[in-house]
Amino acid sequence: MSADGKITAGENTNVQDWSSKEDLKYFSALIKKSSLIIMGRKTYETAKENMRLSKKNLRVIITGNPKKYEREKIENQLEFSNTPLAPLIKSLEKRGYKKGLLVGGAKTNASFIKANLINEMWLTVEPVILGKGRNLFLESPLMTSLKLLSSKKLNKKGTLLLKYDFFTI
Ligand SMILES: NC(=O)c1ccc[n+]([C@@H]2O[C@H](COP(=O)([O-])OP(=O)(O)OC[C@H]3O[C@@H](n4cnc5c(N)ncnc54)[C@H](OP(=O)(O)O)[C@@H]3O)[C@@H](O)[C@H]2O)c1
Repeated sequence: MSADGKITAGENTNVQDWSSKEDLKYFSALIKKSSLIIMGRKTYETAKENMRLSKKNLRVIITGNPKKYEREKIENQLEFSNTPLAPLIKSLEKRGYKKGLLVGGAKTNASFIKANLINEMWLTVEPVILGKGRNLFLESPLMTSLKLLSSKKLNKKGTLLLKYDFFTI
C-alpha cells in the first residue's frame, strides 16, 4: 500500500505503476510458496492475465456468483466460492490447507477481518502518496490492535516490509 493507506491509485488497477520491483519480487516468491491463495473477484479480474496457475497451489476466488466462472474453474488450482467465509476456511482446513495467503482487495480484506479470520498482516508500504484510491480495508468501522513482529527496509528509497500480529478487541 501507499504511505497514505491506498492499495490502488484512484481507479488505476495496475499496482505496479507505483509499487517497487523489490515488492514484486517478494510478493512473487511468496505466491510461489503458498499452497493456498485467496482473493476477491475484482482482484482476480485484474490479476488473471498475469496469473500462472500451478498444481502446487490452489487459488480460491471469493464471489457472490461462482456459477458465472464455472468454465474457468480448475479443480484444486482455481476455484470460485460463495460459501460464507468461516465455513469456507473450515472446509479448506479439512482438505489439508492449514494456512492461506489472503491477497485482497479492499472489500475482501474487510470481509475477512470482520469474520476474524486474519491472524497476521504482511504489509509493504511504498514511500508514495496516492491521495485517492481503495483503502487497505474497505471503509467500515473496525477496531483491531496489532503488534509489530518485524520491519525490514527493502530498498534505498525506503519501501518497508512490516509484519504484524493481530489482536481483535
Ligand atoms: N495494492 C495491492 O497490493 C492490491 C492487492 C489486491 C488488490 N488490489 C486492487 O484492489 C482492487 C480490487 O479491490 P476491491 O475492494 O474493489 O475488490 P475485491 O475485494 O478484490 O473483490 C470484491 C468482490 O469480491 C467478492 N466478495 C468479497 N467479499 C465477499 C463476501 N464476504 N461474500 C461474497 N463475495 C465477496 C464480491 O464478488 P462479486 O461481485 O463477484 O460477488 C466482491 O464484489 C483492484 O483494483 C486491485 O488491483 C491491490
